[in-house]
Amino acid sequence: MFDRSIKIAPSILAADFANFGAECRAIEAQGADWVHVDVMDGHFVPNLTFGPAMCAAIRPHIKGVMDVHLMISPVDVCLDAYAKAGADVITAHVEAGPHIHRTLQAIRGFGKKAGVALNPGTAVEAVAELLDMVDLVCVMTVNPGFGGQSFIASQVAKIARLRQMIGDRPIHIEIDGGITTATAPLVSAAGADVLVAGSAVFKGGSVANPGPYGANIQAIRAAAEAAVG
Ligand code: DX5
Ligand code: ZN
Repeated sequence: MFDRSIKIAPSILAADFANFGAECRAIEAQGADWVHVDVMDGHFVPNLTFGPAMCAAIRPHIKGVMDVHLMISPVDVCLDAYAKAGADVITAHVEAGPHIHRTLQAIRGFGKKAGVALNPGTAVEAVAELLDMVDLVCVMTVNPGFGGQSFIASQVAKIARLRQMIGDRPIHIEIDGGITTATAPLVSAAGADVLVAGSAVFKGGSVANPGPYGANIQAIRAAAEAAVG
């Protein structure tokens, strides 16, 4: 069932790269709602991360939603592989090619939830013609490619504008980049419901000592919920 409650989606970009299965189990046990997987191709963004085989390998270690964020171009040729790898949500960038409409049709055609992401430099109007065919809009609050960057505050007005454009449609607003206990209230007040956080969730913890993951998730969630009217 669709709902706008606050959901925390830790990005495993900030996890121990030698231990993804255990890291996914640990963050879910510590209260993560979704698991966010940042796929980067070294071309659309200047960093290289996970392929479909890695997504398939971690899938059995995730009980809930596997949220795959594709920062790749071209994207259409790879959708089949990420769908087969077991993604629940597949998000593609509006900047990744000329045919985002076709991309979103294909994602839904695979029976997956379709997401569209916007870079900080892209106007929110770029998704206006897509709102009847998406389940999620991801507003990037950093330039994609790396974890641990600073939140770009100019994006908050964009989130509020997007929330107005969405109206009653069952579309999640996901925010990705620089989310902390300080920035979470800004985005939840503007209308966001899915908060991706990498460094702010994984800091201070480990698979051997996962308690800090839970404390971090709880602190971000509490900060976000306190700001929702
Ligand atoms: C950036 C990624 C983000 C990133 C967030 O390209 O899409 O998901 O991992 O990391 P933090 O929360 O550290 O900014
Ligand atoms: Zn991401």
